[in-house]
Amino acid sequence: MGEWVRASFGFTAGGEEVSAWTIRAGEYSARVLSYGGVLQSFSVPAPEGERDIVLGFDTLAEYEAQDKYIGALVGRVANRIGGASFTLGGVRYPLAANSGPNCLHGGRRGFDRAVWRGEARGELLVLSRRSPDGEEGFPGTLEAEVSYSLSPAGELTIRYFAKSDRDTLCNLTNHSYFNLAGHGAGSLAGQSIRVNARAITPIDQTGVPTGELMPVEGTPFDLTRGRPFLEGLAESHPQLALGSGYDHNFVLHTAPAGPLAPAAEVRGAGLVLTCETTQPGLQLYTANFLAGERGKGGACYGPRSAFCLEAQCWPDAIHHPGFPSPVLRAGEEYRHITLYRAVREEK
Ligand code: GLA
Repeated sequence: MGEWVRASFGFTAGGEEVSAWTIRAGEYSARVLSYGGVLQSFSVPAPEGERDIVLGFDTLAEYEAQDKYIGALVGRVANRIGGASFTLGGVRYPLAANSGPNCLHGGRRGFDRAVWRGEARGELLVLSRRSPDGEEGFPGTLEAEVSYSLSPAGELTIRYFAKSDRDTLCNLTNHSYFNLAGHGAGSLAGQSIRVNARAITPIDQTGVPTGELMPVEGTPFDLTRGRPFLEGLAESHPQLALGSGYDHNFVLHTAPAGPLAPAAEVRGAGLVLTCETTQPGLQLYTANFLAGERGKGGACYGPRSAFCLEAQCWPDAIHHPGFPSPVLRAGEEYRHITLYRAVREEK
């Protein structure tokens, strides 16, 4: 196991100092920022040497300017809350409508825009922050702790912990954009995805689940046997049209948390990336809304040039009693683990 090494990454526009933490483990390395808990790079051994497979930026100013959540930790509630409000314990909580009529990824200033406290504890980089009562409209003071670790076997593990002093909602995830051919490759050609889900939660015109479950069989959402991204995306299906591509929650299981289990596997460009999680859902997003952002080393990040595997509670679950509950009761512990393992593809 390697060690996390800290360096300064400059100051935010508001004058807060940001750290960059780097770890090397065998042939792998990763870099995490205290700003947004961003995974800035994940370099894996590839035939040509090291290959960085996550999108990102070189400077803090670019992270502060972006609005695509590239690499960031997302909270207090990842994904959409329909109508940008919810009722809990008989009280209605209005939220920011920052994505059409819905609240997306925690509101205007979500966890992705916060500077987290960082501390290396052995192989773990522990990022923590206190989200004050009422932040972005959510009730309760939430203590959140997210740790990153990297093993020489290519496992990047993210552990999520949270606790609130009042009943609240909590749904934390990481919003890294991957491209196995390298962050700047520009396309998902030659990469195939498998997702262990027999259903998705279909969406309406605003991207929020309708509340139904849609069996994937016979649709481009049937990824149970693995399919090239571009083949699935080329099909015509009303749900693909609504999402401008894949931007859907795949149903892993129906309990709020389960044992760490394989959720998805992407193959291509000589690598295999596996995602395992305790979460009940996986938002597969094919970066449909990237718009030619200038990334690391001058790379250009266009639409569908990457994929996100956002392990999380089902979107808008607070409005659907049949969905796994996103409610975190006062004093209860929120615990989840998601890991991404990248290894060379055996031929
Ligand atoms: C998530 C959403 C997408 C989009 C991105 C950020 O994946 O589901 O619709 O908002 O975040 O651009």
